[in-house]
Amino acid sequence: MGFSVVNCICFIIELFVLKGYKASPTLTVDVNDVFVNSGITLTCSTSSPAIVVAWFMRDEGSEEEKMVIAQEWLDANQPCPTDNNAMDCFCLSAQVYSCSIKSVNSRNDGQSWRCKALIGEVYSVSNSYTIRLIFPLTSLTILPETSVAYPVFNVVSTFTCITSLSRPVASIQWLNDNINITHLAYYSHIDGVARSDLQFIPNANGYIAGNISCVASYEFKSISNILSANISIRVQYPVSNPKVTINNLSISTDLSIREDRLVHLNCFSTGYPQPSYNWTYSGGRSTGAFLNCTFTRNNGSVSCKAYNVMRTFDGINSAEATEKNIALKINVLYPPVITKLSSNDKSIEIINSTIRVQRGDNINIVCTSDANPLATVFWNGQLIDSPTLNVISVQHDAVWTCQATNTMTEFDGVISTSNVTRNVSARVLCKNRCTY
Ligand SMILES: *[C@@H]1O[C@H](CO)[C@@H](O)[C@H](O)[C@H]1NC(C)=O
Ligand SMILES: *[C@@H]1O[C@H](CO)[C@@H](O)[C@H](O)[C@H]1NC(C)=O
Ligand SMILES: *[C@@H]1O[C@H](CO)[C@@H](O)[C@H](O)[C@H]1NC(C)=O
Ligand SMILES: *[C@@H]1O[C@H](CO)[C@@H](O)[C@H](O)[C@H]1NC(C)=O
Ligand SMILES: *[C@@H]1O[C@H](CO)[C@@H](O)[C@H](O)[C@H]1NC(C)=O
Ligand SMILES: *[C@@H]1O[C@H](CO)[C@@H](O)[C@H](O)[C@H]1NC(C)=O
Ligand SMILES: *[C@@H]1O[C@H](CO)[C@@H](O)[C@H](O)[C@H]1NC(C)=O
Ligand SMILES: *[C@@H]1O[C@H](CO)[C@@H](O)[C@H](O)[C@H]1NC(C)=O
Ligand SMILES: *[C@@H]1O[C@H](CO)[C@@H](O)[C@H](O)[C@H]1NC(C)=O
Ligand SMILES: *[C@@H]1O[C@H](CO)[C@@H](O)[C@H](O)[C@H]1NC(C)=O
Repeated sequence: MGFSVVNCICFIIELFVLKGYKASPTLTVDVNDVFVNSGITLTCSTSSPAIVVAWFMRDEGSEEEKMVIAQEWLDANQPCPTDNNAMDCFCLSAQVYSCSIKSVNSRNDGQSWRCKALIGEVYSVSNSYTIRLIFPLTSLTILPETSVAYPVFNVVSTFTCITSLSRPVASIQWLNDNINITHLAYYSHIDGVARSDLQFIPNANGYIAGNISCVASYEFKSISNILSANISIRVQYPVSNPKVTINNLSISTDLSIREDRLVHLNCFSTGYPQPSYNWTYSGGRSTGAFLNCTFTRNNGSVSCKAYNVMRTFDGINSAEATEKNIALKINVLYPPVITKLSSNDKSIEIINSTIRVQRGDNINIVCTSDANPLATVFWNGQLIDSPTLNVISVQHDAVWTCQATNTMTEFDGVISTSNVTRNVSARVLCKNRCTY
């Protein structure tokens, strides 16, 4: 019997599609709002008793309208038989035909339904009804997908929040430590999926960490739902120009230290991640913020490099390193040494601090010293301060004393005066016979 009913109905439908229609049936539904898993009953009401009602459906975006099921009126004592079991159908009368979707799913969204009724010999088509599901908001995702993000100071970072499909579409707001920063975001939505891209620039002075949250709000009649997603942030900074203290004192890059004095250097820079430090000096290299060292005459330079290795925005990989350098030029101070005693007169030899001269000779002796700062050099007993001793007409053996003195002022204000002396003995030789 099933086959003959189907064949018969199909024949009738074809016949009446060609013949056109009049007195259109009306399609109504029993609910205003359709949700996933809820039911909906479509009812086709005709102006006069119909013989057959068929239900047609067109999927969203499709050209093709398919016949889903057909109901046939027999008599008031029998339910209307259908040509298949695609839907639960029944008739209240020869003018009221209903079919239900028991449990709506998202595939039903966007489907257009209409019924066609055979009345007498005329086949007529109802208005169409499109199923528009209400989708409450169910989830919210923030990108990057990490619990801690690493934006860089003064550099734009993009955070993105995406909602699950919702209808009506959800709104999205942004908070940074509970301050509304939604004005920094660009909101858009496609087919019920809302998205907001936040262009975040950490540039508040001293701001190093906090939270970024996005809040999605959904409202439909009495349903409202607010979801939030958040991420902690650590703001990355390049290292600042390093500063060095010596024995806890701030210093300029040109400074004086006495030779062999042990000093404690401390290099300091700001940045995030925390800076590391590398020292370079003529004696070698070392790492860490602290350096204990001494300086000798030829190794008065030392430099500190502060560096940090930045992370990528999501914190997973390391990005580029930033580094800054400070070079100190150290003036290494040392006390005088008398390096040489010599004479401008080539005939005079000074051997073992002793010179031999002829009585009555005029002599000069130059006292040379090495010191930093340069020493004041003079001869004891000579009226003028000069490194050159001039003696006119030497008569007797004598001891002359050269003295070199310098004053060293160090970076910390420590002042020290050093002096050194050297004696020269003169042996006076007589040309003939010496008389004393
Ligand atoms: C946040 O700011 C946006 C506009 O920038 C505004 O529409 C929204 O109402 C604000 N939200 C709150 C909670 O103040
Ligand atoms: C960020 O959020 C965490 C919890 O997720 C909280 O413990 C912390 O205090 C927040 N930080 C700020 C700066 O609001
Ligand atoms: C951050 O989000 C998590 C869930 O993603 C939530 O449990 C937590 O309470 C949120 N924290 C704040 C401060 O909003
Ligand atoms: C000087 O530095 C030492 C460590 O080297 C520290 O213990 C001390 O507190 C510092 N003194 C001052 C005045 O900063
Ligand atoms: C710092 O010194 C360490 C050890 O000498 C070396 O491995 C590292 O590459 C140096 N870093 C920089 C930035 O110079
Ligand atoms: C200078 O040389 C001395 C001795 O060679 C060494 O101990 C010291 O560390 C050096 N200092 C610097 C800053 O190079
Ligand atoms: C430098 O010397 C001080 C005291 O003499 C010592 O406490 C400190 O550990 C030393 N630091 C380094 C890096 O050698
Ligand atoms: C220098 O004088 C010292 C004693 O003052 C003596 O021992 C030494 O032999 C002398 N040297 C020469 C080269 O005369
Ligand atoms: C030379 O140094 C000594 C101490 O080393 C000091 O007593 C003396 O006064 C100094 N002489 C001069 C002229 O500075
Ligand atoms: C230099 O000679 C004086 C005496 O004239 C003496 O007191 C002193 O010790 C001598 N100095 C040296 C370094 O020989």
